[in-house]
Amino acid sequence: MTLQPDPTPGDTSWFVHDRFGLFIHWGLYALGARHEWLKNKEKMSTEQYEKYFRRFNPDLYDPGLWADAAAGAGMKYFVVTTKHHEGFCLWDSEYTDYKATHTPCGKDLIAPMVDAFRSRDMRVGFYHSLLDWHHPDYTVDRNHPMRANPEYVAADKDRVLARYAEYLHNQTRELLTNYGKVDIIWFDFSVSASEEFAGKGKDEWQSEKLIEMVRGIQPDILINDRLQIPQDIRTPEQRTPREWLKVDGKPVVWEACHTFSGSWGYYRDEETWKSVDQLVKMLVECVSKGGNLLLNVGPTGRGEFDSRALDRLAGMGEWMKRHGRSIYGCTQAPEAFACPEDCRLTYNPEKNVLYVHVFSWPFRHLCLPGMAGKVDYAQLLNDASEIKWMEEGPKAEAGALAQEQAAGELTLVLPVKKPDVTVPVIELFLK
Ligand code: GLC
Repeated sequence: MTLQPDPTPGDTSWFVHDRFGLFIHWGLYALGARHEWLKNKEKMSTEQYEKYFRRFNPDLYDPGLWADAAAGAGMKYFVVTTKHHEGFCLWDSEYTDYKATHTPCGKDLIAPMVDAFRSRDMRVGFYHSLLDWHHPDYTVDRNHPMRANPEYVAADKDRVLARYAEYLHNQTRELLTNYGKVDIIWFDFSVSASEEFAGKGKDEWQSEKLIEMVRGIQPDILINDRLQIPQDIRTPEQRTPREWLKVDGKPVVWEACHTFSGSWGYYRDEETWKSVDQLVKMLVECVSKGGNLLLNVGPTGRGEFDSRALDRLAGMGEWMKRHGRSIYGCTQAPEAFACPEDCRLTYNPEKNVLYVHVFSWPFRHLCLPGMAGKVDYAQLLNDASEIKWMEEGPKAEAGALAQEQAAGELTLVLPVKKPDVTVPVIELFLK
């Protein structure tokens, strides 16, 4: 039996099939090029931050190239920051002037992005920040850039957070009305209280009302878990759960979000870029535990994915082109299948195919406990070359290749040389 989460209010069927998406963090912080939280970290005032607004001009922006890079990597959906914590809006919102159309850029950046990704058969997701460090009614909290400015803090008495909530609801309605079908809305995040400042959560965001409105406009949409009222998707961040994520002992639909390097927004000097090998393994790791991977690119201020991101996406695409079958439509393998050493299993329940991802290539033999008599045919996934096996051993005819085997074990006989792919996969068609 494969584990199956209970149904959620939205339609998760495509989501748990597609498994792999692109996160995009893009905003004025791309110009600072040193983390999307720079306004907070450097305690910048809105006036100081204004230089980015005046200079925002992504003249090389071509969302067709972004969508090609994502599709080429094997991604099936994307989630873009319509607005991040800085408050800057990438679309032409009627509720603010703090938007791309009022910068030198002069364009709504969301409309062509949505078209480009949709035309490559990718689903559309909007990340929307609940925090807003620009809105005049947004009160100071522990994360606010002005938290150490007594004058700004004192002015909180005149701020009406409910007016900000109205703005949040209006903009959400706008986004879900003007861009056709939206498959995911990804709200981020609820702020905990500190000694000095109150937190912000479901009461402040008016989450219940917000969710009701979202569902009224887009009934099938998937909503994440950061409004303090969990809906369809759990979103562990920068970590991969050790086992299928469970809530009250029950498996839930989940998606890990990760960066290529430590920052979400474009960060020129950040050097902790993960290798293609690590990234492929992260994706496999997620699917082997019943989850998705949302992998983030922070485009530059000129509007491009930088070469490091393109390199990783291309590398993942090389792998996905030949191994997508072990990812799409796959999930955690039933418990009855024990995972061999240094491997990760995924399983396609519809096709009854088991995929063995070999993280560390062994010499000759890979032993699968309990699998004797269960396999109809085995092959390497990258080139469909047959893989033979032994079920009772040691076998005289196998000679030097013989391997001690316990009852019920099936031993795959592998080539000595590791196939020339990032992570080799053996496809086991089960009886
Ligand atoms: C965090 C950060 C943020 C990023 C997000 C992605 O909550 O605030 O910058 O957008 O994680 O999950």
